Amino acid sequence: MASSIRGILVLLVLGELGSLAWVGECAEQRNYNYFTYHNMAEISEWMKQIVKDNQGVVSIMAYGQTYGKQSIKLLKVIGLASSEKKKAIWMDCGIHAREWISPAFCQYFVRQVLDTYKTDEKINEMLKNLDFYITPVLNMDGYSYTWLNNSTRLWRKSRSPGNCGDSCMGTDLNRNFDANWGAVGVSRNCCSEVYNGASVLSESEAQAVTNFVTEKRNDILCFLTIHSYGQLILLPYGHPNVTAPNYDELMSVGLAAAKAIKDVHNMDYTVGTSPDILYPNSGSSRDWARLIGIPFSFTFELRDKGDYGFELPVEQIKPACEEAYAGVHSIVTYVHDKTFHPTNASANLLATIWTVLFAVCLTGKNILP
Ligand SMILES: *[C@@H]1O[C@H](CO)[C@@H](O)[C@H](O)[C@H]1NC(C)=O
Ligand SMILES: *[C@@H]1O[C@H](CO)[C@@H](O)[C@H](O)[C@H]1NC(C)=O
Ligand SMILES: *[C@@H]1O[C@H](CO)[C@@H](O)[C@H](O)[C@H]1NC(C)=O
Ligand SMILES: *[C@@H]1O[C@H](CO)[C@@H](O)[C@H](O)[C@H]1NC(C)=O
Ligand SMILES: [Zn+2]
Repeated sequence: MASSIRGILVLLVLGELGSLAWVGECAEQRNYNYFTYHNMAEISEWMKQIVKDNQGVVSIMAYGQTYGKQSIKLLKVIGLASSEKKKAIWMDCGIHAREWISPAFCQYFVRQVLDTYKTDEKINEMLKNLDFYITPVLNMDGYSYTWLNNSTRLWRKSRSPGNCGDSCMGTDLNRNFDANWGAVGVSRNCCSEVYNGASVLSESEAQAVTNFVTEKRNDILCFLTIHSYGQLILLPYGHPNVTAPNYDELMSVGLAAAKAIKDVHNMDYTVGTSPDILYPNSGSSRDWARLIGIPFSFTFELRDKGDYGFELPVEQIKPACEEAYAGVHSIVTYVHDKTFHPTNASANLLATIWTVLFAVCLTGKNILP
């Protein structure tokens, strides 16, 4: 037992050195300032520039239109050529307009992967096996609206008229997906922040994601959707009476990500299903992705816990992105290794479980609130 504990500690230390090296890579900045908030026009321009600067590695794909006729685009980070059929990771940001740290994170994530894949062996390996589909801003109409003036800053929903005309605009896109639509945690009142839309998939933004992801459902290993705030990693399902068949594994992978996050700036992230740690809901993209068979599906609620809420100060963009990156890295590594190195992945998961249990024994309480 003593030697296995030593083994676990060695694993822990190695893991931490790994995550420090990971964070250390990201200090340098190019012309674009990743640590301020950008409006929709700037983000669109940035997407074009990234493609120009990374020919053959990143491409841009339009896959739908918003209600306001803006073209919804994602970046496909193809990374490295491979003879074998690649799998994919999905990440979307900015489904809720006012959660500005979310699009900031998607941009940071793309930059980090591109900056490190040549020098970081693990990222390099993962880019041989995985493509990343990253949508920096899904709810483009809503996001643009939050940039108009102070009184629109906290807009959450889409900008379509729903059932009620102009009196109360917008549908909560994250209640509009085909996942127990309308069952729980929604409102049928157009004026509500959680209005779930005139019908399931009434919103063109939700349709766009549904069409794109459905077509690639057999290749997508992991679906990540980035929100704020609350410092949570949410697993399927939002419906309180439905449990994911791989709940235990989702929970372990989520806990490992929370630990990776804590190691960066000592921030606590809570892990669990939405009804267990936040509130029940239905029609979320996370639940829908799990329901169509994508094995790993998580919602990240980034900083903070309510001090600034949706208006996270600019000074916190960098630390918030750094820690979230470590969390995503942890999940993607697990998912990748499970598919491409099945023996290592189960060993790593076991080590994580032991680490958490060991910490519980030592301190007498769970290190993760
Ligand atoms: C903010 O923008 C909205 C939408 O254009 C407009 O209706 C509102 O009058 C503006 N408010 C202020 C204070 O400028
Ligand atoms: C908008 O809000 C910010 C912060 O609350 C404030 O500094 C700024 O003066 C406001 N701008 C306008 C036009 O009211
Ligand atoms: C969950 O099951 C309980 C017990 O059967 C029931 O009372 C409740 O309405 C169900 N919740 C939902 C959202 O369907
Ligand atoms: C798998 O685990 C072994 C032993 O821990 C390690 O030497 C090897 O580098 C790992 N392989 C990968 C691809 O992670
Ligand atoms: Zn949100």
